[in-house]
Order: sequence, then structure tokens, then C-alpha cells
Amino acid sequence: MTQALTFVVLSTGLDSFRELRDALAADERTRLLAGGDDVEQLHAEITRLRPNAAIVTLPDANAEAALRYVERLSVECPQTAIICASRDASPDLILRSLRAGAREFLRLAPIRADEFRTVVDRIGEFRAVQPDVPKKRGRAIAVFSSKGGCGTSFIAANLAAAMNAPTVLVDLNLQAGDLALYLGIEQKFSIADLVENRARADESLLKSYVVPHTSNLALLAAPREADAADDIEPEHVFEVIELLRQHYDYVVIDPQHTFDAITLAALDQVDEVVLVLTLDIPAIRSAQRTLQLFDRLGYPRHKVRIVVNRWSKQIELDVRQVERFLGERVTGYVQSDYNTAVNSINLGQPLVTSNPTSRLAQELRQIAANLTGAAPLPPPTEQPRGFLRSVFQRRASADAPDALPGRLGKEKAPAAI
Ligand SMILES: Nc1ncnc2c1ncn2[C@@H]1O[C@H](COP(=O)(O)OP(=O)(O)OP(=O)(O)O)[C@@H](O)[C@H]1O
Ligand SMILES: [Mg+2]
Repeated sequence: MTQALTFVVLSTGLDSFRELRDALAADERTRLLAGGDDVEQLHAEITRLRPNAAIVTLPDANAEAALRYVERLSVECPQTAIICASRDASPDLILRSLRAGAREFLRLAPIRADEFRTVVDRIGEFRAVQPDVPKKRGRAIAVFSSKGGCGTSFIAANLAAAMNAPTVLVDLNLQAGDLALYLGIEQKFSIADLVENRARADESLLKSYVVPHTSNLALLAAPREADAADDIEPEHVFEVIELLRQHYDYVVIDPQHTFDAITLAALDQVDEVVLVLTLDIPAIRSAQRTLQLFDRLGYPRHKVRIVVNRWSKQIELDVRQVERFLGERVTGYVQSDYNTAVNSINLGQPLVTSNPTSRLAQELRQIAANLTGAAPLPPPTEQPRGFLRSVFQRRASADAPDALPGRLGKEKAPAAI
């Protein structure tokens, strides 16, 4: 299917805007992405959405200011063709428009249908000769825990915010995702909309479904209504992640805490899984089960990075013994600091930006740096003590990998394993 030609309209007059909007709606080759009279706001949208064309109306009273903007737009966004539109179609104004950088001129009040068709044809030709932007393939990272409440959403939001490159955070908790709150943003659309329109999802459409948080971070939110997720199939998630990878350097995914088909589709596809656990027996056991499942699924161990969240010196557990139990090194630590964590969540601002000098933020940035290729952080040191130490000593001496005594032995495997 041919992708629609995408337009934005900058118009100071409501009548001209309506006329242009109706003409675009009547031509099935075109799609209006954004419109308005606020130059700066629309310029930000053009930079973000990269439409094929921008129509700039030239008001009778002050065409000069609009022409100055045309000059700026032609320099800053050369991939967007500029169409000047005006009721005054004098040769002088047409010439000034072209000199300012417009490719086309459209007469308004009324728009002639044949002229409009010609202008759209030319925009099609303009798009056809634009050099292909080479497809990128960003890294996909899932932040996962098969046990709820370990802090995966908090960590996912912060890692995504710390990436320092174009990143999209994907809320794959389709039934009850709340990452929009972690980023303090209002969502209009969700992954369900992108799934529904994925066949025609070019960059502009895709970027209209994500919500920008900063210039480097956007969110693909979970559906607001759980019903909207009913039609989402694992293969749709696969396609959406592939699509996102073409447009972002990093795709950070916060999946559900179960091994349902959608979560597995995402885990299969990602380059890395940040496996989050807390230093309590159910979470450690759950991480061990997850690693066993990953082995059965054929995930290479280097795909998995273990991060301990809510780490504290007070916890009577030797991380080295946890590592032996899991058969895997811990590569990141985030200390326990409930007030700092919860304040940033309540503020709707990732800690790495709202409180960048906090210890938590530094640790989160270190994990992000490890993911992007920097050297790993040495683990904190602590003393093994008390009851939990003895549990791990017994585990270390047990023969069978699953032969943990007592409460660990009773824990059930996650539902769908
Ligand atoms: N390092 C930390 N120190 C203290 N509290 C933390 C830390 N990380 C997360 N928390 C707190 O733990 C709670 C759960 O965090 P979060 O929602 O990120 O977990 P989750 O694994 O996504 O849970 P869910 O099961 O709801 O998906 C939050 O109240 C958060 O403030
Ligand atoms: Mg969560």
C-alpha cells in the first residue's frame, strides 16, 4: 500500500485553515498530521513528525513574517516541501515565496481542485526523489521480573531516560500499564492504535502515537482501557518492536510479570533482558526460575543482565552467594531509597533527570552506561549474616539444582512455564 503524503498546515486565519483541511481530507493521497497558528509549536511538530509538506498561509496584512518563517523552515527541514498559500496570487508574492524557499504556491478562497491536485502530484514527486534515510536498527532491551513489585517499571523508565539517544519506552503491561504516570504525561493513543494501523505506519504516524517526554524520550503507552488490548497478538507486538527499532536507537520495554505469549514474543526479540530482582527469597527464587526458562528457550546467557534493586547494607544476604545460586553475576545495583524513588514517581519525572545527583540516579545511569557499552560497576561489599546466609550455604552444598530446602522448595513455578 502506498503511504499517504503527510502535511502540516500553519495558518493564522481560521477560514484558510478550514479550506486547506477540507481539501486535504478530500484527497485520499494526503493526510493532515497537525495544524495551527502557533509558529513555534508547529515548528516543533514539523521537526518531530517530518511531514512531506508544510503549507504556510501568507496573510494579506503581514506576509513578511510568514515568509521569514518559510526561509527558516526551508533551511532547517529540507526534507519537508513548503507550499505557500494565499488569497493574493500576484506574481510578486509568488516570486517572493519561491525565493524564500517554497516549492509550490496555492491560491486560496477558493482552492481550485485541479491546482490542488497538481500541487499534491508535485509533493509526491518531491518525496520520490528524497534520498532514502538508511534504516536503523535500534537496540531493544526488556526490563523484566517474573515477580511483581520488584521495581521494573521504575527501572525501565529511568534507564530509558538515561540513554542519551533517541529512545522509546514501551509499556507492554497491556492490561494495567501505568508508565504514562511515571513520565507524568497524558496519553491520547496507545500501542493498540499502533497495532491497528501498523500496515501504514510510517515515521509520522508512528510518532503521532507515541507521547514525547523529552527530545530524546517518548512513550508508547499501554491502552487506557484493558479491552483495547484484546485484539493484540504476539506477532503484532513483534512487528511493532521491529518498527520502533527502525526509528529509535533504544527500545526499552516494560513487560508483564508473567510468561504469557506477548511477553515471550518481546523477550525473544530483544537484544538484552535486564532481569530485576530484590534480595528476598521469593524474588531470588523467581529469578532463578526465569533463568532456567531462558535456558530452555535458548536465550544466550550474555543476553541477560541481572540487576538487584532495593539493595541495602542492612539485608542479611551475601550477593556472592546469590550469584552462585543463580549461576550468574549481578551486573547492577540500585540501592533501597523509598522516599527518593516514590517522590520521583509521584512527580512523574524519572529520577535520572529530576534528581540526577542522587545515589539512585547515579546507579541507574551506571546500569544504562553498561547497557550501552561502558565498563561494569563493581558490586558493593557486604557481610553475610544470619538466617539467609545459612539458607544459601545449604543451597551451595545441595546436589540437585532445585533442591533448596524449606520455603524455597515450596515455591511454585510461574504460571505458564
Ligand atoms: N530502589 C528502590 N528503593 C526503594 N523503593 C523502590 C525502589 N525501586 C522501586 N521502588 C518502589 O517500589 C514500588 C514498586 O515499583 P514499580 O512499580 O517500579 O515495580 P514493578 O515491578 O513495576 O511493579 P508492578 O508489579 O506494579 O509492575 C514503587 O513504590 C517504587 O517507588
Ligand atoms: Mg510495573
